[in-house]
Amino acid sequence: MKRYLITSALPYASGVTHLGNVVGSTLPADIYARYCRLAGRETLSICGSDEHGVAITIAAEKEGVSPRVVIDRYHEANARALHGLDIDFDCYDRTSNPIHAATAQEFFLVWRDKGLLVEREENQFYDDDAKIFLPDRYVEGTCPNCGHDRARGDQCDSCGAYYDQLDLKNPRSLVSGKPPVVRKTKHWYFRLDAFQSWCEEYIQQHAGSWKDNVLQQSRSWLTQGLAGRSATRDMSWGIPVPLDGAEGKVLYVWFEAVLGYISITKQWALQQGTPDAWNTWWRSPDTMYTAFLGKDNIVFHTIIFPILLHTREDDGYILPENVPANEFLNLEGKKFSKSRNWAIDVLQFLNDFPEPQHRDVLRYVLTMNMPETRDSDFTWRDFQARTNNELAAILGNYVNRVMQFTQKNFNGTVPAYDAAASRDEHETILVAALEKGMHAVGASLDAYRFRDAATEAMNIARAANKYFNDKAPWKAIASDPADCARTMHVCIQAIRTLSVAFAPFCPAASATIQRMLGESPITGAPNECTVGDNRWLNGATFTIPVGRTLGEPTILFTKVENDVVEREIAKLGTPDEQPATAAAPAAAPVTEEGVITIDQFGAVRLRTAVILEAERVPKSEKLLKLQVDIGTEKRQILAGIAKHYAPEDLIGKTICVVANLKPAKLMGMESQGMVLAASNANGTLTLMTPMDPSVGPGAEVR
Ligand code: 2FM
Ligand code: ZN
Repeated sequence: MKRYLITSALPYASGVTHLGNVVGSTLPADIYARYCRLAGRETLSICGSDEHGVAITIAAEKEGVSPRVVIDRYHEANARALHGLDIDFDCYDRTSNPIHAATAQEFFLVWRDKGLLVEREENQFYDDDAKIFLPDRYVEGTCPNCGHDRARGDQCDSCGAYYDQLDLKNPRSLVSGKPPVVRKTKHWYFRLDAFQSWCEEYIQQHAGSWKDNVLQQSRSWLTQGLAGRSATRDMSWGIPVPLDGAEGKVLYVWFEAVLGYISITKQWALQQGTPDAWNTWWRSPDTMYTAFLGKDNIVFHTIIFPILLHTREDDGYILPENVPANEFLNLEGKKFSKSRNWAIDVLQFLNDFPEPQHRDVLRYVLTMNMPETRDSDFTWRDFQARTNNELAAILGNYVNRVMQFTQKNFNGTVPAYDAAASRDEHETILVAALEKGMHAVGASLDAYRFRDAATEAMNIARAANKYFNDKAPWKAIASDPADCARTMHVCIQAIRTLSVAFAPFCPAASATIQRMLGESPITGAPNECTVGDNRWLNGATFTIPVGRTLGEPTILFTKVENDVVEREIAKLGTPDEQPATAAAPAAAPVTEEGVITIDQFGAVRLRTAVILEAERVPKSEKLLKLQVDIGTEKRQILAGIAKHYAPEDLIGKTICVVANLKPAKLMGMESQGMVLAASNANGTLTLMTPMDPSVGPGAEVR
């Protein structure tokens, strides 16, 4: 029998995972794994932190801490973030685990023994000020392929080209900001070129089942021709090259991170107390391996990783059967960018939406917008619309109506059902919809069509609502009580079907429903699988017994109000895109990433200021233009407080401002600072003023 091995791209432990990362790989991997488990398939899902490479060292240098501090912080934060969204793997480990270094070094030595590594002295960019070679992202320049002027040293984010860094035009070192010089250094080149025709054949074999975006990117890479690639780097952070004469060199992150899937499986096997069990996943022809990832990781998983595994095919290593990569998710029409504050990290989301229902809402909305074939967009309006019009109005409303009606009219117990009596037309239609629906959701998931799958699940809820409406049990309760009982029995069975169909997408709601039905919840989480017990296939079968006492009805989804949407939209962007009040930062979440040092806090110069003039800004409902005295000078500050203060009431008031904020233009006028205001629970803003009114302008606020 086939085993289902599922991996998700390993997030870099250099920041908190954001919605773009989640929708790209970890969420589809979790949905697919839950579905496989519910279908009774032997399933193993693997993920973890990618803890080497320049993504980590640059983050550490920016903060002035060691890479170890960064990876420990973000490994823990990302494990927590993913678990917070019910994205749970059989093992979520890390590439800094010694088991990973041993695995990667073993592969490296096999490549050396097989003559696949060529030792070469090559020219490389070198920063003469910092006295270091500049790997990959330490250099920026103009893409030799598309002309994008902020291309990285090894890959262009704009066109996806992957090139030798010496081909980069107008290079500059990110360490000193200066153009680098070229110096010779020794590296070990992996002979990717030796696998050109093997790889063409491998991709061709999957032409019928892989997605077009994946095939296209892979083929375009192969058309350029595979060349030798340096598998090593001049860095101190990473996995040491296990050869004499390689001091100061580490494995190139892309030649080891992908092997993390194997080493994390070894870690899982150890934790199970069966250290050899990893072999049955990675070295058995019975394994059906699916690798989930985002667009920027495609060629590493369709070309490089398969080649690395193929070098060990004589040891029985298997290859990815499918690589259903997603394109990119945008946010409110723009690319995610942490530096421009155009992003939603998962911990921030969980902080803003702590109720369990919102994990499901986010999972559902992301699934319905999954960038399966092209880039897609996440918007807060859509989040609101899908919550209110779909999850609450269709799924939640159906479950609630049925539960309430049963509670009120049948004392909360499952009414009678005569299986021998024939079905009426409505029941026949519903039962067919339940069966077909479960099949359609499953077939879509097997084809990695997640949007279709979630749509089909919601269609089951639509069919159930229609049945309830058509049968109108609130009338039948008086006119035909037996028929009413049968209707409600059928409705309750349909609720169970929904709890199975939605389990991969909305596991929290699914568990709540199952509890209401008096069942022990099973939502396909790790360890919730009995191999061979196909709950999916039986999802439409009537299994809830007559006479069972049901639990209390619980509201599954509450509506998202306009002010919540506005609050979230207002958080996006930099100060020059937002009104200059401290209201938005005041609501900023306390995440791991949000923790600052005393020195960082000291960098913010807070001062008292006296308001000299205040006036409304024409055509703006929010902004007031203030002239303030900050002790040393007069400043103009635009503040988003027009709805909360009349200009004339502000003159002479002492307030608190951020005095060293970069000036920003708002509605064509310069704002030279930011006022601090506290935001009330009802959304009104109160300016921060000193308790002692005798404090004059320019006093330091600490
Ligand atoms: O793009 C990324 O976030 C990489 N850390 C993905 C690595 S996937 C695999 F190689 F581990
Ligand atoms: Zn480019």
